[in-house]
Amino acid sequence: MRVLIIGSGGREHALAWAISASPLLDELFVCPGNPGTAAIATNVPIRANDIASLVAFAELERIDLVIPGPEAPLVAGIADALAIAGIRCCGPSAAAAELEGSKTFTKEIADLANIPTAAWESFSDADAAHDYIEEMGAPIVIKADGLAAGKGVVVAETLDDAHTAITAIMEDKIHGAAGTTVVIEECLFGEEISVFALCDGLDALYLGCAADHKRVYDNDLGPNTGGMGAISPPPWAPPPIIDAAMDQIIRPALAAMVARGIPFRGFLFAGLMLTDTGPSLIEFNVRFGDPECETLLPLLRSDILPVLFAAADGQLMNVDLRWKPEASATVVMCAKGYPGPYATGSEIFGLEEAGRLPGINIFHAGTMAEEGSILANGGRVLAINATGGTLGEAVGRAYAAVDMIEWPDGFCRRDIGKKALHF
Ligand code: AMP
Ligand code: GLY
Repeated sequence: MRVLIIGSGGREHALAWAISASPLLDELFVCPGNPGTAAIATNVPIRANDIASLVAFAELERIDLVIPGPEAPLVAGIADALAIAGIRCCGPSAAAAELEGSKTFTKEIADLANIPTAAWESFSDADAAHDYIEEMGAPIVIKADGLAAGKGVVVAETLDDAHTAITAIMEDKIHGAAGTTVVIEECLFGEEISVFALCDGLDALYLGCAADHKRVYDNDLGPNTGGMGAISPPPWAPPPIIDAAMDQIIRPALAAMVARGIPFRGFLFAGLMLTDTGPSLIEFNVRFGDPECETLLPLLRSDILPVLFAAADGQLMNVDLRWKPEASATVVMCAKGYPGPYATGSEIFGLEEAGRLPGINIFHAGTMAEEGSILANGGRVLAINATGGTLGEAVGRAYAAVDMIEWPDGFCRRDIGKKALHF
């Protein structure tokens, strides 16, 4: 089988790592990839949002399956373009990717499917939005409707903060067109989890549950990031919670998408709040999480490649996955300054030695290779994953590897998994 992965982050390195272990694989390409994927696949310098070039490359190389990592090519219609070319894609059509692309759309699907979610209203008139929050009071949550690089959500503790957020998003357009419409919703309280499923239009296969660490500094301080680390399984999500998430949220969403005539295929990522009354939907993403993908795939015992094919072919009903009965932890190492401005080009030492420690997988996220050296080339630069018999062992192993990596211009959170270990 000839496979093409699209993207260049830690998630795509982890996907390439898992797929490269498959005996069914003949050739693996990554567009554009990174130095980590270069070691196990062929990197091709086509950008993840250059749909026309990606499709042309897939046709030229007679690719059997394309796996887009990030949401941008999906929202831009790569699955639709590949379908026209007769090439399988493990990812949703542009219409189905609206589950991530538009928060209003997600809320409509949630209401159609009776999915538990925060009470909400959508506004494209700023004055009406300001009036609504006066009526509802604080705390209240303001969300830019469209894609805003994970920065479009404000959990406002006070009405002043809520008004400021509406002005910034709708009037000052800090997220551009993504803020033409806002969703304003009730503030939920509880622990958060991320539940992952692989979908084939009709069926959903559970892919694991993780807890992300979104804030940049220890103790959940500082601005939000793409994710500073993740653990699995989160102790606050025992099996009945997972069953509820699959039965009350993921499967009803798939059924509602079918009813709307836009079946969902690919990775579905449900961000959930575990409230007093059960899991409540915060958001859907139409892709695997990063660093959740690096955290969950090392726990998978089954060959992932035939499963991805089955998802793309609508054949998941007979698929079963086997998992290692272990825990997993990922620590993300970032360039100093992230999520603000940061420098690139600093050298990273000690990766090989760290990678030889027990249970460790080092996934490259934002690196570049130069004359045999690995240099930083992004904000999130490395994802250091470890598995272990217990979460404590996994976390200890991950930090032992982090401590062997010499990179004075980098930093990481030192408390990944701490809340779970004290739960
Ligand atoms: P999102 O970009 O939708 O994942 O939202 C970012 C973060 O905002 C979430 O991970 C939650 O921590 C928080 N958030 C979003 N919606 C709500 C809500 N209705 N109540 C409380 N917190 C929320
Ligand atoms: N780590 C969260 C995300 O991938 O969106």
